Amino acid sequence: MDATGTLHFDHVTKSFDAGPPVIARLDLHLSPGAFMSVVGPSGCGKTTMLRLASGLAEPTGGAVLVDTDKIAYVFQDPALLAWRTALKNVELSGELHHTGKAERRRRATEALALVGMAGFEGYRPSQLSGGMRMRVSLARALMVDPRIFLFDEPLGALDEITRLRMQEELQSLFLSQSFTGLYVTHSISEAVFLSTQVAVMSAGPGRIIREIAVPLPFPRRPEIRFQKEFSRICAEVSQALAEGSRP
Ligand SMILES: Nc1ncnc2c1ncn2[C@@H]1O[C@H](COP(=O)(O)OP(=O)(O)O)[C@@H](O)[C@H]1O
Ligand SMILES: [Mg+2]
Repeated sequence: MDATGTLHFDHVTKSFDAGPPVIARLDLHLSPGAFMSVVGPSGCGKTTMLRLASGLAEPTGGAVLVDTDKIAYVFQDPALLAWRTALKNVELSGELHHTGKAERRRRATEALALVGMAGFEGYRPSQLSGGMRMRVSLARALMVDPRIFLFDEPLGALDEITRLRMQEELQSLFLSQSFTGLYVTHSISEAVFLSTQVAVMSAGPGRIIREIAVPLPFPRRPEIRFQKEFSRICAEVSQALAEGSRP
């Protein structure tokens, strides 16, 4: 089968040991080229949902269907090795996949350039800002040439200015690379800015209670955040979130 980047959650339930389900009857369908953000109250099962998508966890009931093994996954913590340079951190992904040395270096250099890190190949994580470390983490994830890209609050630890800038860079990556994105965030405006659709999760057991389309054309300029249609969609997400958070 051609890997197109389809990701389906069909009536997924997940519980741990004998505990109650943390996710119940979760349905979510991502078509190739979709960028779906997920917002929901803390502890509703967002990270668990990404772990299920990545294959790191198995559903207790229902099915998670992916048509590719080229899956990238980034977290709020860039999880870089302190003693390795930016280039060597990115190359690590190639080492694990047994790519030859020259090819690995070429692709890692290319991935770093793609995230605006050309010239910083020899820097160690401690010599880089938080935004730059996240870029290295993104570059490392790009090494698998992902068809599905999973993001767990990747910009959550960054200051506001860096965060807005990184949103634009993530959008560029999404437009230049062909992956399906599943993006967990706490920021409603970030979700709307980046996405083709926003899914709202209810408090535990988590499930998708609303899907809201974002019919704003790409590429989106930063100023789009001040437009009426943008605010309207943010308000709709915010309202659904409030409804889903009620006990
Ligand atoms: N490995 C695990 N074992 C037991 N409980 C877990 C495990 N992983 C997550 N949980 C529980 O599942 C719930 C959802 O967690 P999580 O998916 O991290 O939520 P979110 O990312 O939305 O904040 C939480 O109550 C958490 O304690
Ligand atoms: Mg989480």
